[in-house]
Amino acid sequence: MKEQEVLLEVKKLSIAFRQKKQRVPIVHHISFSIQKGETLGIVGESGCGKSITSMSLMGLNHQTETTGDIQFEGQNLLTLSEKQWRKVRGNDISMIFQEPMTSLNPLMTIGKQMTEALFTHQTISPKEAKTNAIHLLQTVGLKQAESLLKKYPHELSGGMRQRVMIAMAMLCHPKLMIADEPTTALDVTIQAQILRLLKKLNEEMNTAILFITHDLGVVRQICQRVMIMYAGRIVEEGTVDRIFQKPQHPYTKGLFASVPSFKEKKEKLVSISGHVPKPGTIQACCQFAPRCPYQMPQCLEKEPPLQSIEPEHRVACFLMKGGENTDSPTTTSESTDKAL
Ligand SMILES: Nc1ncnc2c1ncn2[C@@H]1O[C@H](COP(=O)(O)OP(=O)(O)OP(=O)(O)O)[C@@H](O)[C@H]1O
Ligand SMILES: [Mg+2]
Repeated sequence: MKEQEVLLEVKKLSIAFRQKKQRVPIVHHISFSIQKGETLGIVGESGCGKSITSMSLMGLNHQTETTGDIQFEGQNLLTLSEKQWRKVRGNDISMIFQEPMTSLNPLMTIGKQMTEALFTHQTISPKEAKTNAIHLLQTVGLKQAESLLKKYPHELSGGMRQRVMIAMAMLCHPKLMIADEPTTALDVTIQAQILRLLKKLNEEMNTAILFITHDLGVVRQICQRVMIMYAGRIVEEGTVDRIFQKPQHPYTKGLFASVPSFKEKKEKLVSISGHVPKPGTIQACCQFAPRCPYQMPQCLEKEPPLQSIEPEHRVACFLMKGGENTDSPTTTSESTDKAL
């Protein structure tokens, strides 16, 4: 087994917005780590804080109040100046988004964008930069790489743009790549190709990947570990093998029950009734309690801490006191509020 070495350690990260002089907390005291070369998935309903958590790892949460500690190779990223961030961003940590046009410049050729990114971080000749760019475009499966360098983003298909964005994110061989729903906008065949590509880059270049998705199937394909988020909290975290075999938190169980491929054929597909609490309406209790089929009085009195129930499995639920939660959820609401 590969020896584990921590690459990124997030401790008690909290993120809040200021709106009309009000502080609106979004992410609350989350702690997690990523090992070198590891693939970690973040799953959770829309609005639970996945993207703003990942933005804070890129120093892009300018409008927020962010507290806690993000240790990356011995430095706390939250204390970096913008100048220091420029050395980390795109070099040690890079990011790919759902929509490649958000990170590609429409007015610049692919070649210019790739070589300029290389010049920012490396002392390199124009010829070497071009060779590196061509090599990377080939690595991400793009043919006729040399002629691609002369093209503008709008001249490429969606799948090609996504590959170019991955190539750009890989330019400086980052230690961590954050992928925020990178395949959601693509059709299924292209999606599978992009996932295979990311897995290949992870294995061959030992790039750790933080993979944000709504899709549990994608998590199973690409991730070693997964974190389930709910209303700005981590409610469950563990190895993919373990979580897929023995999900413990009622919310995680609900997620699995709401995805057709993870249900026994004869069982009815369920959705979790109720809604995620709106930012600004968070109470000091278990955030999932109002929707939880196992709600107990204490769930409405305080927040359950995220606790280890196995060495590689953490759950934030008062049901865990007596060991594993082996019940199946009883919620069979016909609610249209889908779990995912
Ligand atoms: N600039 C902002 N000002 C105020 N609130 C914001 C801002 N950006 C995001 N939020 C709020 O923060 C919460 C978390 O947003 P985030 O984008 O991280 O969610 P997400 O989990 O990535 O959702 P999705 O799956 O839809 O991408 C949401 O409730 C959102 O409305
Ligand atoms: Mg998002």
